[in-house]
Amino acid sequence: LKFVCFPNDGIDERMVWLIGLKNIFARQLPNMPKEYIVRLVMDRSHKSMMVIRHNHVVGGITYRPYISQRFGEIAFCAITADEQVKGYGTRLMNHLKQHARDVDGLTHFLTYADNNAVGYFIKQGFSMEIDLDKNRWQGYIKDYDGGILMECKIDPKLPYTD
Ligand code: ACO
Repeated sequence: LKFVCFPNDGIDERMVWLIGLKNIFARQLPNMPKEYIVRLVMDRSHKSMMVIRHNHVVGGITYRPYISQRFGEIAFCAITADEQVKGYGTRLMNHLKQHARDVDGLTHFLTYADNNAVGYFIKQGFSMEIDLDKNRWQGYIKDYDGGILMECKIDPKLPYTD
């Protein structure tokens, strides 16, 4: 099992994983237009943290790091159907927090969570209370009325992965 994180940088092996992840999102997030999923997953300013097992994608999180604002916006998050509720979603989020803090220099995540995923995000330390100063994120993230805005503060020191 491995966790990898990168943008679309044109490397073949990585492209195969990004396409696999795009297919998982398309299946697990039926309300999202497929073209929108493809566009963001393949966009060079987005990155995807993925769980890879036997060289296959099990799931992932696509996010956009706003480096100057030091926060990231999670666009999509999903685990393939037959691997859900086995702990992969939690491990994925922990790897994402560690990477976002140590590589991107981020302090917070914001996301518009689907109603049915709010419970998962709360377990990952997200909350409906937005503490992040509005001038750090306003105008950066797109308003989206199909979900609930949630925030997570990344601990500056905590080791999230072992
Ligand atoms: N609602 C409430 N709690 C949940 C949900 C949920 N939908 N999914 C998982 N949990 C809980 C689990 O029961 C578990 O609780 P526990 O620690 O007390 O046992 C905890 O959250 C973590 O479970 P994992 O096994 O780590 O989660 P999983 O690997 O299933 O990944 C995920 C969670 C990503 C939500 C997955 O179930 C999934 O792909 N769902 C369908 C797609 C989806 O809804 N994605 C999020 C949309 S919002 C967005 O993308 C911004």
